[in-house]
Amino acid sequence: GIPKFVKIVEVGPRDGLQNEKNIVPTSVKVELIRRLVSSGLPVVEATSFVSPKWVPQLADAKDVMKAVCDIEDARLPVLTPNVKGFEAAVAAGAKEVAIFASASESFSKSNINCSIEESLARYRAVCLAAKEHSVPVRGYVSCVVGCPVEGAIPPSKVAYVAKELYDMGCFEISLGDTIGVGTPGAVIPMLEAVMAVVPAEKLAVHFHDTYGQSLPNILISLQMGISTVDSSVAGLGGCPYAKGASGNVATEDVVYMLNGLGVKTNVDLAKLMLAGEFISSHLGRQSGSKTAVALCRV
Ligand code: HMG
Ligand code: MG
Repeated sequence: GIPKFVKIVEVGPRDGLQNEKNIVPTSVKVELIRRLVSSGLPVVEATSFVSPKWVPQLADAKDVMKAVCDIEDARLPVLTPNVKGFEAAVAAGAKEVAIFASASESFSKSNINCSIEESLARYRAVCLAAKEHSVPVRGYVSCVVGCPVEGAIPPSKVAYVAKELYDMGCFEISLGDTIGVGTPGAVIPMLEAVMAVVPAEKLAVHFHDTYGQSLPNILISLQMGISTVDSSVAGLGGCPYAKGASGNVATEDVVYMLNGLGVKTNVDLAKLMLAGEFISSHLGRQSGSKTAVALCRV
């Protein structure tokens, strides 16, 4: 069966905006986060404490975090690639962080400039620091079905990295199809391999919609017992280190599907769409959500 409640993790302000070339003003990012929280989303990933040379768009992480850290209606995790990022995040008021490893050696190198094993060593240090501060850590595995350089990724590799992150203390592991190449045909064996080593209730799925496969992939994941789904308002995004990858599945489309299935999310679709319209009009483009586009016409 399908879970009765699905926790949506909104990643638009981070995964969505990180790929935007034109710098979005801090005030717009803060307003977007506020609107997303007021739509009822329980988790809104706010920004990343990464090197500004690698992701110039998020160079204002400290200012964004300082402006939103008083929000109490949602959890606002931030990405931290190392202890330096973790310390900066906590100093700015972050109460939850996420670390991000890869199942692809090549992608690890291009995204965080180190091997998978080196990244796991760094992340153990982040988890230790987080434990001292009682800060929960979410773990990402990227390239869980495919990598832009290496092609298909074996499910055993994904299971290995997911288990390592789980064992170092991550409360949840998000499995990312970073470039959006997966179909249910690849997602099912990947999830089977991971679920053999990490319990389904500790897993999340994170799909990018490059080939329009996100909703079938989410549905199959729910049927396999996953109840946490990452998505991005207006389908914002892509990854700066994964050329050609399109945005995350649109949050509006996920909510529309879950409403149709009778699955609760606590998200008000109308309010969510206003947040989507706000950022789309700022970026000067049509929403990447089919639901938002369709409901605007009626
Ligand atoms: P590096 O160049 O190897 O690191 O980068 P370094 O330690 O040699 O440091 C280089 C410079 O960066 C130094 O400054 C450091 O101080 C600074 P300099 O002395 O040259 O002036 N630095 C930092 N500054 C701010 N915050 C920090 C930090 N760390 C070092 N935390 C590093 C290594 C990991 C830092 C870099 O590669 C990086 O920041 N990468 C992040 C890339 C990124 O954010 N990618 C997108 C997110 S992942 C994703 O989108 C996938 C996901 O959505 C899941 C999916 O879709 O599947 C999660
Ligand atoms: Mg992503």
